[in-house]
Amino acid sequence: MTRGRRFFTGAFKPEAVALLAIGVPTAHAAIGKSGCQKDVEGGGASRYLGAMTSDTAADRTGTDFEIFIVTAPGLESVLCEEVKARGFRDATAIKGGVTVRGGWPEVWRANLELRGATRVLARVASFRALHLAQLDKRARRVPWAEFLRPDVPVRVEASCKGSRIYHAGATAQRIERAITEELGAPISAEAGVSIKARIDDDLCTISVDASGESLHKRGHKEEIHKAPLRETLAALFLRHCGFDGTEPVVDPMCGSGTFVIEAAEIAAGLYPGRTRHFAFEQLASFNEAAWQAMRASGGNGAKPAFRFYGSDRDGGAIAMSRNNAERAGVAGLTDFQKHAVSDLMPPEGPPGLVIVNPPYGARIGEKKPLFALYGALGQTLLTRFSGWRVGLLTNEASLAQATGLPFQPSGPSVSHGGLRVTLHSTAALP
Ligand SMILES: C[S@@+](CC[C@H](N)C(=O)[O-])C[C@H]1O[C@@H](n2cnc3c(N)ncnc32)[C@H](O)[C@@H]1O
Repeated sequence: MTRGRRFFTGAFKPEAVALLAIGVPTAHAAIGKSGCQKDVEGGGASRYLGAMTSDTAADRTGTDFEIFIVTAPGLESVLCEEVKARGFRDATAIKGGVTVRGGWPEVWRANLELRGATRVLARVASFRALHLAQLDKRARRVPWAEFLRPDVPVRVEASCKGSRIYHAGATAQRIERAITEELGAPISAEAGVSIKARIDDDLCTISVDASGESLHKRGHKEEIHKAPLRETLAALFLRHCGFDGTEPVVDPMCGSGTFVIEAAEIAAGLYPGRTRHFAFEQLASFNEAAWQAMRASGGNGAKPAFRFYGSDRDGGAIAMSRNNAERAGVAGLTDFQKHAVSDLMPPEGPPGLVIVNPPYGARIGEKKPLFALYGALGQTLLTRFSGWRVGLLTNEASLAQATGLPFQPSGPSVSHGGLRVTLHSTAALP
C-alpha cells in the first residue's frame, strides 16, 4: 500500500493530524543574523497556555506544523541562511537549530537538501500536562496512526524541565503505553523510529525524529582519518566563508577530504542525502513515489569549470580522500595529492577559498611543534596565495595568530570532538 499520499497531494484532513500544532519556538530566544533574525513574541511556551487548558484541540493547522531543524550550537544563524536560501518558510534561528513551518514533504526535503542540519524533528502534537494522569489521557488522544505505523517498532525519549511532571522515565512510559494501546505499535529500544517528548513549563511537545541516523552521515564516507570533521560542520563553515560553489577550494591538510568533497558536491548541486535512508521512510506519512521523485530532482547538472583540491602529508589520508570522493561521485571534480603544506602551490586559474583544519593542540600531537606548523601554513599562504580567502578552524586563538594571517574578528565557535573550535577567516589576501 502506498502510504500517506494525502500528505503530498493536498487531499488532507486537517482535523486528523496535529492534536495541537506548534506555532512558535518554545522558551528559546530567537538568534541569528541577517534575514534569520526574528524576535519571538513574549513568553515562548507560555503563549500557548491560555489556549491549551482543555483536552480539546485548540489550533488545527492542516498540513502545516512546526519543523525543528537541529544543528551544532553556535551555527544556528549559518544554518538559518541555508534554510532560507533553500526556500523553507518562516525560518527562525533559535538555540540549537532553526524552526520552519511545513508538512511532511518539507520534512523530507529538509533531510534531503540541507547540508548543515544534524537532524529534523516534526513537531506533531502539543498539550498541557500538569500531572501523569493528564499526560496519560492526552497522550492517548494524539492521532498516532497519522504518522506512526502499527507494524513498525518505535522508541520514546523524554525530558522534563521546569514542570510539575519532572520524571522523564515516567513520561516516556506513559507515552509508550499510549502508543502500544492506542495504535498497537511495538516499543523497542533498538527501533529506528523515535518519538521525542519534551515537557517544558508544563507543555508537552511530541516530535517525530524524521532523520534517524545523524545527518552528518551522508552515506558515502566510509573511510575516516584522524580527527575527521563532520560533513554538516564543514558545509556550514564553507558557507560562512562565503563559498557558494562558484570558485575553487583548496584544503592543504585534508585528512579524509571532508571540506573538498563537500565543496565539490555543492558546486555540482548534489543533494547531501541522495544516497542514504531516513527514519521518515518508515512512517505512515511516507509516500514512496513522491519521495523518489523528490530525490531524483537532485543535481543541477552543473559542470563546474574548476576543481576542488586536497593535500596532506599522509599518504593514507590521500588514499581515503580519493576513495571517499569516488563513492560520493565527485572524483572527477576533485584532486588529492600527497605533500606537506610547505610544498603547497595554488592551482592554475582564478583564486578562491583555502579552508583548513590543521591538527589541534589537545587532540593530535603536542602543542609546541604546532606553532611551527601553523607558521609554515601562514607563510605559504601569504607568499603564494594572493587573492585567495582563507578559513582556518582551530581550538587555540594563539595557533591562529601564529599563522600571521590577517584574520577578521573570529567567526562561529562549535564543540567538536570535546574541544571548542573557532573559525578564523580572512578577506582576499593581498
Ligand atoms: C585535523 S586533521 C584534518 C581532518 C580533515 N579536515 C577531515 O575532515 O578528515 C589534520 C590533518 O593535517 C595533516 N597534516 C599535519 N601536518 C601536516 C603538514 N605539515 N603538511 C600537510 N598535512 C599535514 C594530518 O595528516 C591530518 O590529516
